[in-house]
Amino acid sequence: MHCVRKVTDDLYWVGANEKRLHLFENIHPIEDGVSYNSYLLLDEKTVLFDTADWAVGRQFIENVEYVLDGRKLDYMVINHMEPDHCASMEEILLRYPEVTVVSTEKAYMLMQQFGFSVTDNFHQVQEGDTMSFGKHNVVFVEAPMVHWPEAMVTFDTTNGVLFSADAFGSFKSLDGVLFADEVNFDRDWLDEARRYYTNIVGKYGPHVMDLLGKAATIDIKMLCPLHGPVWRKDLGYILDKYVHWATYEPEEKGVLIAYASMYGNTESAAQILAAKLHEKGMHNLRMYDVSKTHQSYLIGEAFKYSHMALLAPTYNLNLFPPMESFMLDMQKLNLQKRVVGVVENGSWAPQSGVVMKEILDSMKQMTVLNEEVSVTSSVSKAVYDELDSLADSIIDSMKQDYKY
Ligand SMILES: Cc1cc2nc3c(=O)[nH]c(=O)nc-3n(C[C@H](O)[C@H](O)[C@H](O)COP(=O)(O)O)c2cc1C
Ligand SMILES: [Fe+2]
Ligand SMILES: [Fe+2]
Repeated sequence: MHCVRKVTDDLYWVGANEKRLHLFENIHPIEDGVSYNSYLLLDEKTVLFDTADWAVGRQFIENVEYVLDGRKLDYMVINHMEPDHCASMEEILLRYPEVTVVSTEKAYMLMQQFGFSVTDNFHQVQEGDTMSFGKHNVVFVEAPMVHWPEAMVTFDTTNGVLFSADAFGSFKSLDGVLFADEVNFDRDWLDEARRYYTNIVGKYGPHVMDLLGKAATIDIKMLCPLHGPVWRKDLGYILDKYVHWATYEPEEKGVLIAYASMYGNTESAAQILAAKLHEKGMHNLRMYDVSKTHQSYLIGEAFKYSHMALLAPTYNLNLFPPMESFMLDMQKLNLQKRVVGVVENGSWAPQSGVVMKEILDSMKQMTVLNEEVSVTSSVSKAVYDELDSLADSIIDSMKQDYKY
C-alpha cells in the first residue's frame, strides 16, 4: 500500500523508510533507521527527483504509481548517483520506458558503470542549465563532492524548493514525519543529522561551503534533502549548523573525553579529569569509552565540542587500536581547530602519547595542551595533580578566544 505525503500542492514525498538495516554503508550503525527521500512533481510534465534504495524499492514504486495515478512519467532528475538513491532507477526505467533521465555528465558515466540502461533517453545538464516542466522552472547547480563528484542540486525557481541531494540530510527514519517543524529537531534529530553529515560528508567542508555560497544567491523557501525531514521554516537554523560543520568550527564550548582502557586505570584517569572539570565549573562534558562506542558517534561529538581529552594505554609499543582508529578517522575527515589534552598510559615503555601527538600534529590547527600526562600503570598522587592542572588549562583555554 502507498505511504506518501504532500510537500506542496503539486509536489509529493514518495520515499520510504529503512528500519531493518543495521549499518548504513555497511559501517555506520543506524539504530533509528534512515529514510530515502524521493519527490514527485505533478506539473504539465511529471517529474521524479531521485529514487530510493533497492531495499525499499517495492514501497517506493507503489508510492510513485499511486501519485502518478495513471499519468506517464516524463522526467527523472538524478541529483546523486549513490545507490542508496539511484538503485531503483532501473525499475523506473523498466516501468516507464519513455522517461527522460536528467543529470550531469559524470552521473551518466556512473549510470553506465552501475549497469543502468540509459542511452537515448538521457538529457545532460550542467551548472546553470534550466528546464521548464509547465508552471515550474528549475535550474541545475553542480555540487561536486557533496557527497560524490557527480552530485548536483536542483532549484525550483517557481516555488523556491531546493532539491538538495545529500546536503541537509540526516540519519533516522521519518516514521510519518515530513517537515522538520513537526518534530523537536534540536532535541531529537540534531545529533543524528550531525553524525550523518560529519561521517559521510565531513571531509569535504570546502565543497559544502562552495554549495552554501551558491545557495546564498537564491531565494530558498524549502530544503528537500534525500534523507531526513524537509525544511520549510527556520532554514537559518540548519544552515548555521552546516556552516559550523563545513568550516570545522565547534558548535559549543565543551569537552569530549574519549578514553581507552584495558584494566581500568586509564578509565580512572578519565573519571578524575571529568570530576575536576565539573568541580571547576565545566559541565558541558561528554565521556565515552572508545572500545564501546561506535566511531561514528565519536566523530559527531568531536565536530560538536571545542575541546577534547584523549586518554589511551600503550599497546605493542603503539597506540591502543580503537583510539588509533578514531584518531585516524578524525584526521581523514579533516577535523580541525580543536584544543586537545593528551593522557597516555604504559607499564614499561609508554608510547601512546607520542603516537597521539603525531596524529594531532598531522591535522590542521589542532592545539595540544602542554600539560601532557603520563600514567605509569595506575594513577599516582603526582598524576592526580597533573590531571588537576590539565583540567585548569582546558578551562583557561576556553576563557581565551583561542587562536589555534
Ligand atoms: C597486548 C598488550 C601490549 C602492551 N604493550 C605495551 C607497551 O608496548 N608498552 C607499555 O608501556 N605498556 C604496554 N602494555 C601495558 C599497558 O599499556 C599498561 O598496563 C597500561 O597501564 C594499561 O592501562 P589500563 O589499566 O587503562 O588498561 C601492553 C598491554 C597489552 C595487553
Ligand atoms: Fe550519498
Ligand atoms: Fe545518501
